[in-house]
Amino acid sequence: MSTIHKRKTCRACLSKKLLPILSLGKQPLANAFLTKAQLKKREATFPLAIEFCPKCTMMQLSHVVDPAILFANYHYLTSASAPLIAHFHAFAEKISASYISTKEDLVVEIGSNDGTLLSALKDSCRVLGVDPAKNVAKRAQAMGVPTVTAFFSEKVARQIVKKEGNAQVIVANNVIAHIDDLDDVFMGVRELLSGSGVFLFEAHWLGNLIGKGGFDQIYHEHLSYFSLHAVQALAARSDMIVTDVEIVPIHGESIRFAIQKSGVPSKRVLALRKKEISLGMKRTATYRVFAQKVARVRTELRTLIDKLLKQKKMIVGYGAPAKGNTLLNYVGLTAQHLAYISDTTPLKWNHYAPGSRIIIREPAMLSIEQPDYALLLSWNYAKEILAKEKELRTKGVKFIIPVPEVRIV
Ligand code: TYD
Repeated sequence: MSTIHKRKTCRACLSKKLLPILSLGKQPLANAFLTKAQLKKREATFPLAIEFCPKCTMMQLSHVVDPAILFANYHYLTSASAPLIAHFHAFAEKISASYISTKEDLVVEIGSNDGTLLSALKDSCRVLGVDPAKNVAKRAQAMGVPTVTAFFSEKVARQIVKKEGNAQVIVANNVIAHIDDLDDVFMGVRELLSGSGVFLFEAHWLGNLIGKGGFDQIYHEHLSYFSLHAVQALAARSDMIVTDVEIVPIHGESIRFAIQKSGVPSKRVLALRKKEISLGMKRTATYRVFAQKVARVRTELRTLIDKLLKQKKMIVGYGAPAKGNTLLNYVGLTAQHLAYISDTTPLKWNHYAPGSRIIIREPAMLSIEQPDYALLLSWNYAKEILAKEKELRTKGVKFIIPVPEVRIV
């Protein structure tokens, strides 16, 4: 596979009719944080644009970057975000209570990252992680979570069945959107699941992207922006069915699917289908309005930052999530605008944000070099962060929340 290819068919239903909705220009990879030495080189940039499938309502990136480049060495750690750890622990409890009956049951996690979810389950059943990133898989193994370092596929599924037997539960959180060939993964899931088994997958919900969330969730890792409608079409292709669905308050609003080999859709499935229709998610016009809203955020944020800098205010970034890089690069903010970005991930410290080249510092910097304004790039944790930073706020630091509309708190 070359470094990048243009997708010609819908990833969920294979329709050839894809409508361009929004282009965010050419951007570097959102998780490609740079070392000081790497600043000397020009960064590779790739088109970042989304297209809509009017047939099944799937929203998807127009271009696909080779996953070996994106995921072989990964800086993202689940355990760096306290609210995410809490979310995964609650999810582990739910899995254990609802789907695990004996210690022999097997739970397989696709994209198991540093093992945060599976380590909370490993005392109640057998667990196995699958993740291609060697550096994070090592962390999981160190916590006692056996991990296969591979991209999950039908072939890998067969190998797991041979060695470990079928899985009662397969979990995949924030990873299915990373995968180009969904048929291969869904066929693998079908192969690996036991007869009554359940595939639980959580992804960012398209309804949130165009509603209360932010366009900055769009970056090269996120190939798909799922609706219930699209996933029903996708599951049907591998002869499976969405039996339950839930909107969960993480990363803005995520959608959690329960997919099985047989069963009937729950009342919640029927209700969300109706809701998606009432939100206009089947109509192309809805996404045109969304694209206009995104352009407005760019103008407003840029105007605000320029105005504050003229007033000699010091501005920093708060959180260095991948999505922050989409936002900074689309709006055109650089080290001339933000003095630094604070982040809780040690792996990111003293690295530079791709494109904008703003330095990432440890959170203690916020008290040492106290800014006037903090641009909240981790807006999905706004509630927790605003509560955590009470002291800074009393000292006068104001937070700029960039999406869905620019506001200061
Ligand atoms: P996350 O929102 O999980 O997203 P993405 O998928 O866009 O990378 O990333 C959260 C980032 O924010 C991570 O780098 C840790 C950082 N963070 C902070 O710096 N402070 C905090 O209080 C929280 C909750 C997160």
